[in-house]
Amino acid sequence: MQQPVRIAPSILSSDFAALGEEIRAIDAAGADYIHIDVMDGHFVPNITIGPDVIKALRPHSAKPFDVHLMISPVDTYIDAFADAGADIITVHPEAGPHTHRTIQAIKARGKKAGLSLNPATPIEAVDYLLPDLDLVLVMTVNPGFGGQKFITSQLSKIRDLRARIDTIGASIDLEVDGGINADTAAQAIDAGADVLVAGTASFQGGPATYAKNIKTLRGGT
Ligand code: DX5
Ligand code: ZN
Repeated sequence: MQQPVRIAPSILSSDFAALGEEIRAIDAAGADYIHIDVMDGHFVPNITIGPDVIKALRPHSAKPFDVHLMISPVDTYIDAFADAGADIITVHPEAGPHTHRTIQAIKARGKKAGLSLNPATPIEAVDYLLPDLDLVLVMTVNPGFGGQKFITSQLSKIRDLRARIDTIGASIDLEVDGGINADTAAQAIDAGADVLVAGTASFQGGPATYAKNIKTLRGGT
């Protein structure tokens, strides 16, 4: 069943010179998850932050750290991100040879496991894995950068995943990531998403507008 909408601001769009402060501000503004984009310059054409930075940020918020790993190979780093304080660890099926093993490794560390589908990755990537997952992430941009345009063809993937999740009746988060603003948030929710990642739309305007930004994404005014 579609759960209440939760907002996961991506700190990729925050002020990197003041990350601790930014996380405290977005937490106070009503963020449900703190979305952390980890990029390696290999799986995606951008480099961001690693486990040591996440560990340093951990004391700044008690909200779940939703860690989106865009790194390959990924298996060697699961323990490091678990140790750093991730609550949800999401991987891409293209990031290693044995996705089932990767998911089990995340769960063995007592963390929630997510699988992320790139725009061109077919929905079948979740076959045989869905009952083991806590979260499915639909990328609505090609991963690598904030501020890109929402790819509308992914709405049917969200709808299909909503149906599959409802069929097995588990409370799996259906998260959408990329190009989310007030309009596309409404479309994604209508298609069945219940966690919205938003970088630009969460952090635009600076700390004084964060609460309003989050309310707008939730469907408030
Ligand atoms: C893209 C990242 C996203 C990104 C979203 O690879 O996974 O989380 O920060 O940024 P916006 O909301 O600006 O599209
Ligand atoms: Zn992300």
